[in-house]
Amino acid sequence: MPLVTSKELLIRAQKEGYAVGAFNANNLEYVQAIIEAAEEEKAPVILQASQGAIKYAGLEQIVAMVKNAAEAVSVPVVLHLDHGTDFIQNVRCLRAGFTSLMFDGSALPFEENVAITRKIVDIAHAVGIPVEAELGKVPQSGEITFEELKALMTDPEEALRFVELTQVDSLAVSVGSIHRMQVQEAHLDIERIQRIRELVGIPLVLHGASGVTDESYREGIKAGISKINVATELNKAFTRGLKEAMAEFPNEVDPRKFLTRAREETKKVVKAKMRLFGSSGKAAATGTDAPTRERDEQVSLKEFDKE
Ligand code: G3H
Ligand code: ZN
Repeated sequence: MPLVTSKELLIRAQKEGYAVGAFNANNLEYVQAIIEAAEEEKAPVILQASQGAIKYAGLEQIVAMVKNAAEAVSVPVVLHLDHGTDFIQNVRCLRAGFTSLMFDGSALPFEENVAITRKIVDIAHAVGIPVEAELGKVPQSGEITFEELKALMTDPEEALRFVELTQVDSLAVSVGSIHRMQVQEAHLDIERIQRIRELVGIPLVLHGASGVTDESYREGIKAGISKINVATELNKAFTRGLKEAMAEFPNEVDPRKFLTRAREETKKVVKAKMRLFGSSGKAAATGTDAPTRERDEQVSLKEFDKE
């Protein structure tokens, strides 16, 4: 089906107590692995492009690949900008066909983060596209003490003000996870998630999910996490598949032999995450929020029927 926006997918996930997996894709094989996994699991899915992926694959290429792959399956697929850097990049992605945006102003002073986020929200909402923003900071991996991590966490009252001022559709929160961890040993601050959830009402997003324990995933979802971003675990699986296939077939020169294994390993991880997040089997009856022109056409046709 055509790409859908993340709005309805996340609201339904929030209501029904599961989370939609948001998986970072870097090339064709990642896109195939993620979308095939979603189709097999009958799960709604968000494919997202990071800054690195945009540099590596090119914005237009990413849109073309994801659009084509989504149209060939029956589950709802969203194309989301991950950690958008500024207003202009968000506008470019909107124009290119992304169906969900993010502005990451978490390193900026509060007022500046609010101002840029609000500007993006205004233009994106004009064409029915939802926006995620970040408050508090999910750090990059590296040496960080617990005190330092705590100081970066999202303040619930500040989150409420931020959401009221910006009108964002979902909020990325810093609640104990760290980006790019290679082992699952981060524990989430569940009470903080609950408190933010009670105050802000909108779906909450967990970044840096590769390093989070399975137990914390489950508790975090119960407490109010509705979108979970996974990148490093997919990279690990992809690279492991490549290395294993290369070791097994040292004389092989056709790279497709290696890439096929990498794709399979990545797909296994995506499927396991979908089951863990509770989104498997949730594709039916979601994703009716066709973005922009298609939806406008549906509306105007209904109007026409009345006359
Ligand atoms: O925005 C992307 C995610 O936060 C991915 O984090 O690489 O730790 O899984 P991760
Ligand atoms: Zn992130």
